[in-house]
Amino acid sequence: MKTGTFELQNTDPSCKARRGTFHTKHGKVETPVFMPVGTQATVKSMSPAEMHELDCEILLGNTYHLNDRPGPDLIERLGGLHEFMGWDRAILTDSGGYQVFSLGSMNKITDEGVSFRSHSDGSKHFIGPKESMEIQRKLGSDIAMVFDECPPYPSEKEYACKAVRRTLDWAAICREAPRAEGQLFFGIAQGSVYADLREECAKALVDMEFDGYAIGGVSVGEPDELIIRGVEDTVDHLPVEKPRYLMGVGEMAQMVESVARGVDMFDCVMPTRQARNGTVSTRRGRYPVKAALYKEDTRPLEEGCTCYACKNFTRAYVRHLLNVGEILGLRLITMHNLHCYLEFMREMRKSIEEGRFAEFRAEFHAGYSVVCK
Ligand code: GUN
Ligand code: ZN
Repeated sequence: MKTGTFELQNTDPSCKARRGTFHTKHGKVETPVFMPVGTQATVKSMSPAEMHELDCEILLGNTYHLNDRPGPDLIERLGGLHEFMGWDRAILTDSGGYQVFSLGSMNKITDEGVSFRSHSDGSKHFIGPKESMEIQRKLGSDIAMVFDECPPYPSEKEYACKAVRRTLDWAAICREAPRAEGQLFFGIAQGSVYADLREECAKALVDMEFDGYAIGGVSVGEPDELIIRGVEDTVDHLPVEKPRYLMGVGEMAQMVESVARGVDMFDCVMPTRQARNGTVSTRRGRYPVKAALYKEDTRPLEEGCTCYACKNFTRAYVRHLLNVGEILGLRLITMHNLHCYLEFMREMRKSIEEGRFAEFRAEFHAGYSVVCK
């Protein structure tokens, strides 16, 4: 199948949930999909073999971090990001602007781009739309993201409007920039919490024709309902035949609700970051396995889970590893959390295929509370 093709298998009868397959230069991606985050050319603590074992089809990499270290020229000379990190499946790279904002190292934002100081050595840098596309071209990711401005929450409408203008101007510049062979690219719709701005931004991006469209500027500290509203305000203006990607959202309940509204792709540091903090994700919610009540608990991290960590180890053992600072503890939780997320998406896909997403959604919510035991 041609790179960039998005095959829509079916849509659930109860809502806008879709089951699709997206084709990239490094293989197919079954959607709805969760993309584990591999910011620095690695999913923290996991080997590519382990990611294969989890049946992961696509990872996310970050332009900002890889530009900082080891630099795009070095990665290009060494054969591109896939070759460099030993990963032969798809990679999507974020464009860098958002990371500059969120790492707080930003100096100045102008219509040309963003000046900032490196978080590693304090050196001065500038990334604009052209620079971002050039870095992503050198990395050779399968999907490049346009360079955008993500305004903070809350933002006055006037500022949000300015960010939409910039995002659209930058998208137009990115559109004309050279890309790696077969490299796809997605536009990013901004607009903060303003429905008319979201509509305007989405429509203008659709006119520019990208391979897919992202919903950006959500999960920036606003209440949960506003995340879902941001999705609703954007999705209806996007074409049905292209994938839709909700950036930075990875709370399970929000993912189900976003899928119900027509979102196909997600990424989030949550499962991997929380693992390193000792927090286990399960279908019922998450819990800190360091808590005293797990001291002699012989159950696996999640009952019924088929991951390597759950098939072989107890909560008591993982808790012990964390308490004595052994690396394996964090690795086992990371492995389990990613399995939990990827399995969740697999089951969601199956339920859409079989026309019973409504039941899946209801059952999930009935059993889920963010924090559990
Ligand atoms: N990651 C999470 N949100 C965003 C966003 O709005 N823009 C970009 N580029 N990346 C993100
Ligand atoms: Zn498990």
